[in-house]
Amino acid sequence: MCGIVGYIGSRQAPEICINGLRQLQYRGYDLIGLATVQDGQVHVRTATGKPEAMDQLLTSEPLTGTLGIGHSTWSDQGKASAQDAHPHLSSNHRIAVALSGTVENHQELRENLTAAGCEFRSQSAGEVVAQLVQTHYEGDLRAAVCRAMEQMQGRFALAAMAADSPDELVAARRFLPLVVGIGQGEQYIATDMYSIRDETDRVYVLGDDEVALLTAEGIELTDLQMKPVQREPFVIPQPAAADPKDKGDHRHYMHKEIYEQPDVIRNCLAGRLTSPDLPIQLDGLNMTEQDIRDVRQIIFSACGTANHAGMVGGYLMEKLARISCVFELAAELPSRDPVVLPGSMCVGISQSGETNDTLMALRDLKSKGARVISVLNAEDSTIARESDGVLYIHAGKEIGVASTKAYTLQVLTLSMMALHFAEVRGTADPELIRSLKKELLLTPAVIQQLLSREDEVKAVAQKHYDKPDAFFLGRGVNMASAMEGSLKLKETSYIHSEGYSAGEVRHGPVALLQPSMFVVAIAAQGEVYDMMVANLGGLKGRSAPIIAMATDGDTQVPTAGVDPAADASDPTSQPNDMIWLPPTHEFVSPIAATIPLQLLAYHMADMKGEGIDQPRHLTKTVMPE
Ligand code: F6R
Repeated sequence: MCGIVGYIGSRQAPEICINGLRQLQYRGYDLIGLATVQDGQVHVRTATGKPEAMDQLLTSEPLTGTLGIGHSTWSDQGKASAQDAHPHLSSNHRIAVALSGTVENHQELRENLTAAGCEFRSQSAGEVVAQLVQTHYEGDLRAAVCRAMEQMQGRFALAAMAADSPDELVAARRFLPLVVGIGQGEQYIATDMYSIRDETDRVYVLGDDEVALLTAEGIELTDLQMKPVQREPFVIPQPAAADPKDKGDHRHYMHKEIYEQPDVIRNCLAGRLTSPDLPIQLDGLNMTEQDIRDVRQIIFSACGTANHAGMVGGYLMEKLARISCVFELAAELPSRDPVVLPGSMCVGISQSGETNDTLMALRDLKSKGARVISVLNAEDSTIARESDGVLYIHAGKEIGVASTKAYTLQVLTLSMMALHFAEVRGTADPELIRSLKKELLLTPAVIQQLLSREDEVKAVAQKHYDKPDAFFLGRGVNMASAMEGSLKLKETSYIHSEGYSAGEVRHGPVALLQPSMFVVAIAAQGEVYDMMVANLGGLKGRSAPIIAMATDGDTQVPTAGVDPAADASDPTSQPNDMIWLPPTHEFVSPIAATIPLQLLAYHMADMKGEGIDQPRHLTKTVMPE
């Protein structure tokens, strides 16, 4: 998702817009642009790079004006080129538009406009929208944007201004977030409300197909037919005491966010799970006890890391609450057209609350009658607005593109949900429920202990970080942990890695094992422990070095599969490299196992000299292509 910041008032717009875009810098944008209206003309400056690049450009080519729009984005045309940066101008240079998101029919619109004689300078959909607004503009910018919106399909947010409407700024959205900030004699537009938090804490959150007309004096909200819309201002919450963008003593946000986990777990537990002897309270679910008893099936749907959290949650829900659970990759769900049985509920999981694939999957399930419950971090997101119930994980802002603390909290929240359902449905031994609650309450201390062992993980990373390939293996509830460990490694270190069931790997992939790669195997105590030890024996025989994760005091795993008779140069003769986990119940072990897996990925990436916080080709929120 791109960033848009707009301003109208009596101060200099470029400065305010750049300051706003600076707040979004952690997203790694590489294109930035600004436009103002001044002396009857639209003036545009675009640059490749960060806001500093724009600062430099403005020194040589100053830009002034009290009405302006700023935009920053990633280049989606390969190498970043200033020509692709927004705001884009219409062909007569009288309209400027900054667009975030996707206009699905932009090619068709481009062809129609070209046939009508318009010439385009870029391949950008933003330029098509600027041109479309121009064709509808007859002195009323808001009306022109409304007419343009009627012709546009997709998910987007936009800001527009016109040389001939020098006292107006227009903002509109469909499915992507956009707010207008309320000031005194000045107003703002922002795709991320926190980017204007330094200017105002009161905003209107625009609804889908709503348009805002901003003048220095005030804001009018309407629908596309220009019928007034009434909305209460939303007060932007105070940022957490510590600025999330301050890395403190950490070199990377990923490392900082791994270390925040004990604290954010306490936030997530607060008010929900306070004592092993009290019932879990999950108010955001919006479900009565009867609703919970009536659930017949749960479909978990999400993407990437959030999908792995859903796999853990579904495993626990089935084991504890005895509800049939299915997992659907959100990106695949709508095209599979799944059958949704009566009494179905779906659980969508998303850090951002804006991931398009997840949103589309939840909409599909909702349209088929499923109750939609979402587990989210970002507040006031599109998924939140479309859900029947929302459980917030309270991770605070996650800046590192590779998700760490959000994953752990998603697993924790889903674990609480499984226990809550089991309590209400009476499907699990009350003593087991009590002991699991006790263990969840202890997770901050367990994580603290794991963090204090970072050097041990680092030493293991040092031994293997230069290998090109890896397998992460687990069984039962920790199959998802293996997949998550593998994803974390590949996205941060660029080591090719596969996450697999330790049982399934024998059905083909094991053919790949060789001494030049490494295997990470999760063999914590629990129901699948003996099977994991047996699998380790088989794997070791294939000569790939093994990093085994086992419970403190385990004596079998360090030597599982070791052949003392093998040649000393053969990894088969060497004991397994060990990462030790404090004892936990198997159902809580995914939370514990995740911490060293995150640290392993972090240190391998760091040893390889990778950037870590902004992995190549990745964005924090994946929108439509
Ligand atoms: C990996 C990662 C991604 C996201 C996925 C879903 O570290 O962060 O796999 O988990 O893109 O994003 P959200 O949770 O925002 O829906």
